[in-house]
Amino acid sequence: MENVDLNRRKFVQFMGGAAALAQSSLLTSCATGTNYKVDKTVTPKRSDEVELSYGLTYDLVVKWGDQINSKGDTFGFNNDYLAFTPIEGKDDEAILWANHEAPSPMFVGGYDGKRRTKSQVDKERYSVGGSLVKIVKGCCGKWEVDSDSEYGRRLTATTPIPYSNNETIKGKKTAIGTLANCAGGVTPWGNILTCEENYENFYGEYFYKEKKKKRAAYGWDKFYNLHPYQYGWVVEVNPFTGEAKKHTGIGRYSHECATCVKASDGRTVVYSGDDRDNEHIYKFISKKEGSLSEGELFVADIKNGKWLSLDINKNETLKQNFKTQLDLLIDTRAAAKMVGATPCDRPEDIEIQPGTANVFVALTNNKRKGNYHGSILRISEKDGDFLSMEFSANDFVVGGEKSGFSCPDNLAFDKNDNLWMVTDISGGSIGKPPYESFGNNGLFYIPMKGPNSGKAFQVGSAPFDAEFTGICFSPDFKTLFLSVQHPGEKSKDLKNLRSNWPDGGENIPRPSVIQVYGPLLDKLMS
Ligand code: FEO
Ligand code: CA
Ligand code: CA
Ligand code: CA
Repeated sequence: MENVDLNRRKFVQFMGGAAALAQSSLLTSCATGTNYKVDKTVTPKRSDEVELSYGLTYDLVVKWGDQINSKGDTFGFNNDYLAFTPIEGKDDEAILWANHEAPSPMFVGGYDGKRRTKSQVDKERYSVGGSLVKIVKGCCGKWEVDSDSEYGRRLTATTPIPYSNNETIKGKKTAIGTLANCAGGVTPWGNILTCEENYENFYGEYFYKEKKKKRAAYGWDKFYNLHPYQYGWVVEVNPFTGEAKKHTGIGRYSHECATCVKASDGRTVVYSGDDRDNEHIYKFISKKEGSLSEGELFVADIKNGKWLSLDINKNETLKQNFKTQLDLLIDTRAAAKMVGATPCDRPEDIEIQPGTANVFVALTNNKRKGNYHGSILRISEKDGDFLSMEFSANDFVVGGEKSGFSCPDNLAFDKNDNLWMVTDISGGSIGKPPYESFGNNGLFYIPMKGPNSGKAFQVGSAPFDAEFTGICFSPDFKTLFLSVQHPGEKSKDLKNLRSNWPDGGENIPRPSVIQVYGPLLDKLMS
């Protein structure tokens, strides 16, 4: 499957500079139950390779264009969120879900920046959505794709997906496709939640109470007249059947993620952020156990530590401005502002620390407000109760030169309650002021206990223009699955490629899923 120089990527060791040595000496006693010392962290890199700390190595799992089933379906573009579903009774077979966020018109359809064709757009429509891929543990414990499996499926921008709870939007009970699939979550019953984030780039958007349509950056609306209200939702997918539905109750906005937790009474609480400057953090509480079809949506008033209801029947202003609860949910952002929600600096991923029940929110940046490096916000629900309407919040870590990272994005907790984080300095900003010192985007490990609690240690560096996304551990924590998204995205044309990862040579870059493993990971998980 691979056509790469394996020696380049195996056990890459970094002697680094003074910064690396200073960092490495700090990384002691970081894993619960061990006194393990990481010999080398990664100093910020500017290279076209996945570079990892000594003791970590990686192999490809699947890349854009790989066959995933016997019908000939192929893995989509720009993979982001990953979720691992074990196949019952087997520890060496699983279904891996991957979101496919956005196309590169140049790489996917051959768009030359001049003439846009329907056939190019059709290729792009196939490249987004999600993939279900059967993976099996093969030689030496490495995961490989079963390219003929019946579990291999694609959801694309053309897959019909009904709204849950029998809702009708613009006269239709079914949306055409899913797109802009960024991060996600897993329900307590094992279904995948995939989140439609920057949906307005595909078919545009109507602003609240305005008739004017916002232009769609990808220009699909030139060839397909699909209403933007079909997108911006959280989509639930059964990983075994591919059956999907769009949940209206969780609201419509640029959903980064949908992080689920089971409340004390069995209902499900879903935390989600709206990744746009000055937008908000939300939580949804389901009405019933085992279903997200109905429930109540709340938005965070961080200053006063209160969750504010977005139920039209509980607020006069909401009642005056919206005809129905569904109208309100379609314009969730406008409703949130009416009740006094706190503007945030682009909420990205949200994770709940299993040992404390604290909720961590990556606030990636807000350049318009002069916040270039972002932070991670820690929310503590009153009495640790996810159903509570009150909480306290404070900065857990703040990005910048001192902390050594910038623009936090996806998060994940490991089996020892320690935090893993990836960063997303945008492709056009990497290496430029004020981001020069951070190198390419990175993978970081943040101990949550001991003398290094809250310190970020860089353990991985991404290829040119890429970000790591979709941090996902296998159930035995021996493998860390990672997406490598948009390598070489700033390439001017196909003759001036900024990245050739992962195939090297003169090959075009291909977004891929990698598996990271090795003695360092084993030590940190012991
Ligand atoms: Fe797709 Fe907010 O990242
Ligand atoms: Ca993200
Ligand atoms: Ca996550
Ligand atoms: Ca981001």
